[in-house]
Amino acid sequence: MNITIIGSGYVGLVTGVCLAQIGHRVICIDNDAEKTKKLQQGKVPIYEPGLEELMKPLMKKKRLSFTTTFRAAIKASEVIFIAVGTPSKKSGEADLTYVENVAREIAVNMDSYKLIVEKSTVPAATGKRIERTVKMNLPKKLREGKRRIEFDVASNPEFLREGAAIDDFMNPDRVVIGVESKRAERLLREVYKPLKTHMVVTNINSAEMIKHAANSFLATKISFANALSQICDRVGADILKVADGMGYDRRIGRSFLNAGIGYGGSCFPKDVDAFIRLSEKSGYPFELLKEVRNINEQQKAAFVKLVEDKLWILKNKVIGVLGLAFKPDTDDMRNAPSIDIIRALQHEGARIKAYDPQAVANSRPYLKGVTYGKDPYATAKGCDCLLLLTEWAEFKKLNYKKIGQSMNRALIFDGRNFLNDKDLENNGFEYHGIGRGRPVENP
Ligand code: UGA
Repeated sequence: MNITIIGSGYVGLVTGVCLAQIGHRVICIDNDAEKTKKLQQGKVPIYEPGLEELMKPLMKKKRLSFTTTFRAAIKASEVIFIAVGTPSKKSGEADLTYVENVAREIAVNMDSYKLIVEKSTVPAATGKRIERTVKMNLPKKLREGKRRIEFDVASNPEFLREGAAIDDFMNPDRVVIGVESKRAERLLREVYKPLKTHMVVTNINSAEMIKHAANSFLATKISFANALSQICDRVGADILKVADGMGYDRRIGRSFLNAGIGYGGSCFPKDVDAFIRLSEKSGYPFELLKEVRNINEQQKAAFVKLVEDKLWILKNKVIGVLGLAFKPDTDDMRNAPSIDIIRALQHEGARIKAYDPQAVANSRPYLKGVTYGKDPYATAKGCDCLLLLTEWAEFKKLNYKKIGQSMNRALIFDGRNFLNDKDLENNGFEYHGIGRGRPVENP
């Protein structure tokens, strides 16, 4: 099938490359000329394992191309995905300016039937607004009469995780499509046919709601585990065992019960905020989600408190940080918990030395006055303590004996409960995780 994807950001790019890989011919449009130029040269502007390798051969075979202009792409495609950004407004509500602009561009450039699919995470009922915008902006001669053009709007929310996006696309748990016509359903089923996965077919509003519900529920699971971790520390229980004990119950499941310094990224914080706003506007304020957000914020503050408790005076102490990205296998710093934690420690006068395998460049605009080590060893040298803030696999394989010996004090705070506490203690470290049953002395 001929498909256009509008927006070559994270979701749009991965979707475009993967749709081309499963057999379609895909054109990606983005109004950022510099980014598009890079993409045309086969360079991926984000760090996503496997994406660049997949992209290049598809471009060679002319199954995937990049452009900044609408006309030819829209003309050539029957199915058009909207995957532009939906940033947060001050109120938390999603800003749909880009979505509206794109709907207008599609309308003025279409010359035959189109299926317009929203892939960006949008508030419920956005589909209807897209439909209205396209209708309003279609040239009059194409709106009615003999030359009238038909179109459908559909919703196809994205469930990709950064860092695992290609595998998530190729092997999804399900594909959700929200459609209002048989034609739209048939076309979207055809798009995803090669994946041979379970399809949840529903109306547009329900599909939009599924995305809100799934992300909010996952954020709730994380905050539930984080709240448990606080109690674990106070009563001498170990959150790792508590989560295992709960997780073996198939009704609960072990995933997303990892306590730590809280969730970050471009999705959960923004989506939870947007869903809170949407629920308020709908007349049913979702109070539970406000607490999910509070717990997430408190988790970072509690971590800083723990560091303060063990180091006492932070002024002029040197703190080494391993990991800055909001999670491993990405260079994404958006809403990374490391930002708030580092700023809070700096506020108390601590000096920060940091290392991340991929996110250093992206971290610079968020972090001021941080010095960067060339590797974990150089970073830890001479530090009064180490903080592990992102669980990159390579941090498990470090020589912690050597690291501990090079530090001013062999003290480590594991913000992700990632490292083996016993191994570290055997290597001379004082180890503190999250909710591992070792109470803060002055909570
Ligand atoms: C999330 C969802 O998992 C995807 O399904 C969805 O498509 C995407 O948002 C989106 O809306 O676009 P992503 O933000 O890439 O994907 O990352 P996750 O792997 O879900 O992690 C989110 C955050 O939660 C990270 O900061 C991670 O460290 C944290 N987390 C995750 C925990 O603190 N504990 C856990 O047990 C799991």
